[in-house]
Amino acid sequence: MRRPLVAGNWKMSLGPEGGAALIAELLPLVADSTGAVDVVVCPPYLALGAVAAALDGGGVSLGAQNCHWEEAGAFTGEIAPGMLLAVACQWVILGHSERRQLFGESDEGVNRRAVGAFAAGLRPIVCIGETLEERDAGRVEDVILGQLDRSLQGFTAEQLASVAVAYEPVWAIGTGRTATPEQAQQVHGLIRGRLRDSFGDASAEVIRILYGGSVKPDNAAELFGQADIDGGLIGGASLKAADFAAIANAARSTCGCHSEQEI
Ligand code: PGA
Repeated sequence: MRRPLVAGNWKMSLGPEGGAALIAELLPLVADSTGAVDVVVCPPYLALGAVAAALDGGGVSLGAQNCHWEEAGAFTGEIAPGMLLAVACQWVILGHSERRQLFGESDEGVNRRAVGAFAAGLRPIVCIGETLEERDAGRVEDVILGQLDRSLQGFTAEQLASVAVAYEPVWAIGTGRTATPEQAQQVHGLIRGRLRDSFGDASAEVIRILYGGSVKPDNAAELFGQADIDGGLIGGASLKAADFAAIANAARSTCGCHSEQEI
């Protein structure tokens, strides 16, 4: 049984003060779930230090929204994996569709970032997802498997267990239009099948595959109840403590996980 993972992607919202305030509100609301669910928040870089301090010992982990593959150098505007580890980050979102679409990140670049982040000791959450145009053209399988293969190139079966994949259909992000549980499960099953072929049964069984795209308290339980959906990557709803907590609590109640299990 896989331990669910629910990660909040704050995007370009909340600075140090607002971030710490949100955490103060959130921690008591998720206290009953953090024994059974990995709950992660991913604030903007500038808020990481303040949020880390606010999280202290509260059972919620810290992640970043991107990182470079090198540890130092002339890379204006980038951040190194070691810098994120130094402020207590354990996770990093990589290849989010906004990075791919608005900032030109490619599968190859996402892969370099993932390999670099992993080597430094961070756990990547690698995002993949098709556009509406690609879905309408019947290209979901082709697009998703291509992104998956290229983004995870070079990982070993053993390393894969520490990685998470997030399936986020681009047309469902921030639009209020969620994939139906059946649509999401179909793609999650496809992803796990490919991971099984590429990395073997054992790794494919333990890797968490998250769904992202307009997850809300009222649709989370049904999504997380699908066989291959192991939690979510949450944007808008992660900015409201009550909503994010309700989603994390839904992951606990639907996945039938064992609280003592750690991956
Ligand atoms: P959303 O964003 O929940 O606001 O749709 C999800 C994401 O971008 O990760």
